Amino acid sequence: MMPPTELLNHLRKSVGAAHVLTEGDLSAYEQDWRKREYGKCMAVVRPATTEEVAAVVKACAAASVSIVPQGGNTGMVVGSTPDRSGTQVVLSLTRMNRVRALDAANLTVTVDAGCILQSIQEACAQSGFLFPLSMASQGSCTLGGNLGTNAGGTQVVRYGNTRELCLGLEVVTAQGDIWHGLSGLRKDNTGYDLRHLLIGSEGTLGVITGAIMKLYPLPAAQLTAFAAVPSLEAAVQLLGMAHQHLSAGLTGFEVMGQFALSLVIKHFPQIRVPFQQLSSPYCVVLEASDQESEVHARAGFERLLEAAMEQGCVQDAVVAESITQAQALWHVRESIPLAQAQEGLNIKHDISIAVSRIPEFVRLTDAQLEQAFPGVRLVNYGHLGDGNLHYNVQAPAGSDAEAFLRNDEPGVNAIVYEMVDQFNGSISAEHGVGSLKREKLAQHKSPVALNMMRAIKHALDPQNIMNPGRVLTL
Ligand code: FAD
Ligand code: MLT
Ligand code: ZN
Repeated sequence: MMPPTELLNHLRKSVGAAHVLTEGDLSAYEQDWRKREYGKCMAVVRPATTEEVAAVVKACAAASVSIVPQGGNTGMVVGSTPDRSGTQVVLSLTRMNRVRALDAANLTVTVDAGCILQSIQEACAQSGFLFPLSMASQGSCTLGGNLGTNAGGTQVVRYGNTRELCLGLEVVTAQGDIWHGLSGLRKDNTGYDLRHLLIGSEGTLGVITGAIMKLYPLPAAQLTAFAAVPSLEAAVQLLGMAHQHLSAGLTGFEVMGQFALSLVIKHFPQIRVPFQQLSSPYCVVLEASDQESEVHARAGFERLLEAAMEQGCVQDAVVAESITQAQALWHVRESIPLAQAQEGLNIKHDISIAVSRIPEFVRLTDAQLEQAFPGVRLVNYGHLGDGNLHYNVQAPAGSDAEAFLRNDEPGVNAIVYEMVDQFNGSISAEHGVGSLKREKLAQHKSPVALNMMRAIKHALDPQNIMNPGRVLTL
């Protein structure tokens, strides 16, 4: 086995001494976004090419040193930061940030895994194409992280999760070999689909170094509306009407509970949140995209909102008149995670339930939590269009949030996840498992499924050097 100093020298030779960080403030790599864990690594290694990634993995495998792949470190489940042992290598992909090629006829873009999501969207838009994956972290998350977690975001109702957008991968295996899978084919039934095995594997099976992703034509018009609704049932009814009226033109449908919005108002008073005087329990952001024209889009949107008001499922609504106004409405929704972080440490539940059953789930679960933890504050918002709620829990006002998490997080989780099971839902819709939900996965996934997952892990990473302790207990 290679001693650490020898490994570090080897890594310096592979990627350049300037890109092996061992000293100074490494907190950006060692602490997770939610400040749930602070790790300590042996080094942060920043390769610039796929071949360099392969050399790093080979050296770490020879030294039996484990690797934590990291992109933008915006993950929500403590999956991209090292443990506290000081023995792991953080493999940061952010120097691999090239858009490699755009194929207009094949409607694909090939990119390095370390590309920032927003820069991919912008590069594609400049060429007249839409890369639809979108989320509030898009200014700092990377495509490798999006693929690693099979991220969802705000356009899933129309375009699907990251998985649905990916046509091929380039991967460095746990042995340091390179798998060139960037075919870009829409049809390929040649055995097991390794791409789908790697997507959502959270760095536990290999390092994604490149990907070929689907593109769409840029819509002629995109319209955003913000609506106040009298109940969660009404929001679900509005979603049904939006599907009927807009069909594939419905590209976003987000819901926000009143308390979640009140945190935005409290922590970002400069942000104008519509309809506060109505005190509606929920508001909704809807987005429609249209291939014809803005006039066509606006007419369709207005018909939908008028019909919804007639049926009583919308109390009031505003349709953005310009891109700036649309961005301002989206900004309200996208500021909720930051506002919640400002409010203090909190418990996140990233769950999915059949859309039709969400109101009943929330009613029953709210009641149980309020009874078991008096004063608890429920921060409920999310991607209603695809059945994904961020059903989060904040400590009672004025209480010690750290103590609440220490003492009450297991009880809160037990109630929420028991209800998720009863409703046939998922305990992780889009954020993944990481280390925060590893034990929960072991409790909520079937033993047969867990055994198959462990068999895959053993087969692809027999040394258990790829992000150990994440997703699975071995
Ligand atoms: P990281 O956090 O660095 O890593 C995440 C996981 O992927 C880790 O397990 C890591 O080991 C693995 N990984 C990273 N790169 C690679 C690679 N190249 N190869 C293999 N594995 C890799 N998520 C959503 O799904 N939808 C949302 O709407 C959403 N909104 C967010 C809003 C905010 C404000 C924030 C802070 C986060 C949000 N997230 C959301 C969570 C997060 O942004 C996503 O999970 C994102 O996909 C993570 O990308 P990243 O580059 O930051 O990955
Ligand atoms: C979101 O939808 O805003 C994200 O998934 C982040 C979060 O839940 O905090
Ligand atoms: Zn989300």
